[in-house]
Amino acid sequence: MDSRCFLALSLCFFCLFPHVSHSRVRIPNLIDHKQTVGSVLRLKRGPSSATFDPTRVTQLSWSPRAFLYKGFLSEEECDHLITLAKDKLEVSMVADNDSGKSIKSEVRTSSGMFLQKAQDEIISNIESRIAAWTFLPIENGEAMQILHYEHGQKYEPHYDYFHDKANQELGGHRVATVLIYLSNVEKGGETVFPHAQVKTVQPKDDVLSDCAKNGYSVKPFKGDALLFFSLLPNATTDPSSLHGSCPVIEGEKWSATKWIHVRSFEKSIKQVASRECTDQNVNCSTWAKAGECEKNPTYMVGTEDLPGFCRNSCKACSS
Ligand SMILES: *[C@@H]1O[C@H](CO)[C@@H](O)[C@H](O)[C@H]1NC(C)=O
Ligand SMILES: *[C@@H]1O[C@H](CO)[C@@H](O)[C@H](O)[C@H]1NC(C)=O
Ligand SMILES: *[C@@H]1O[C@H](CO)[C@@H](O)[C@H](O)[C@H]1NC(C)=O
Repeated sequence: MDSRCFLALSLCFFCLFPHVSHSRVRIPNLIDHKQTVGSVLRLKRGPSSATFDPTRVTQLSWSPRAFLYKGFLSEEECDHLITLAKDKLEVSMVADNDSGKSIKSEVRTSSGMFLQKAQDEIISNIESRIAAWTFLPIENGEAMQILHYEHGQKYEPHYDYFHDKANQELGGHRVATVLIYLSNVEKGGETVFPHAQVKTVQPKDDVLSDCAKNGYSVKPFKGDALLFFSLLPNATTDPSSLHGSCPVIEGEKWSATKWIHVRSFEKSIKQVASRECTDQNVNCSTWAKAGECEKNPTYMVGTEDLPGFCRNSCKACSS
């Protein structure tokens, strides 16, 4: 029996029989200090195992549920992610409320790109550590998005959960977001939660920009990671998870975002891809012959984001 297990049993014994506490149960001696100082939680994933260090995590707020991990990435890992993204940046988009389609918007003025999942060993390792820290499986995560904000660029407060059906079909709601700061920002660029319950208790000193004073704010430090949840423990959407990226005033901001869904994002992507190429109704070929693909394209063909029901018969499959 390992010592932690023994400790747990002893503590349990303790609460069932509080009177024995006087009889010198040597609880303190059971705690091996080498094990608890700088302790790490080790989670197995295949042949390798990812660890995280709970002593570096601070709980920031319960509404929204938000946590900060100091030094989640090393300087080298941050620089590596920036290097991979640097020459592939495009103007960032937002999801349209109704259709879910990606559209440009004044609400979000950064530029960004998506890495691939497990694109290289470093990314794969980071993804394992995110899974270990969040206790959420890798397959529920989207690929990491790298964002770059230059002077004046921002992302107005928004929710990470979706309003449209099409995006929710992909793995369901986003339950959690891990936002990693890849650079220091001299001034501005804070992550602000305007509806956070703790917003009034945070000292509003001059370290923070004016925008950041409109809520509870997290100042970007290279390597730090912010975890917050968009869903409440009862799985309904959390309005206090509203968050934004304040305008950069001095310097530039680089960040990496990992969105994690309630279900497997990887499986959903595969399902959508295969569904795109099959007929969903036994009458599809009859209808196609009758010219319905042209007459009724929304139902028959649909769009890339919201595929129709007879894509095979309408010869609309991309592969
Ligand atoms: C989307 O809908 C939400 C909630 O109804 C609203 O607050 C938000 O402003 C809308 N966003 C856009 C871009 O229309
Ligand atoms: C979920 O929890 C929130 C906050 O406690 C509460 O306001 C809401 O009514 C709950 N919803 C359901 C469906 O339980
Ligand atoms: C297919 O077409 C037949 C004949 O019009 C109809 O009776 C049947 O309900 C249709 N099946 C489906 C699944 O729409």
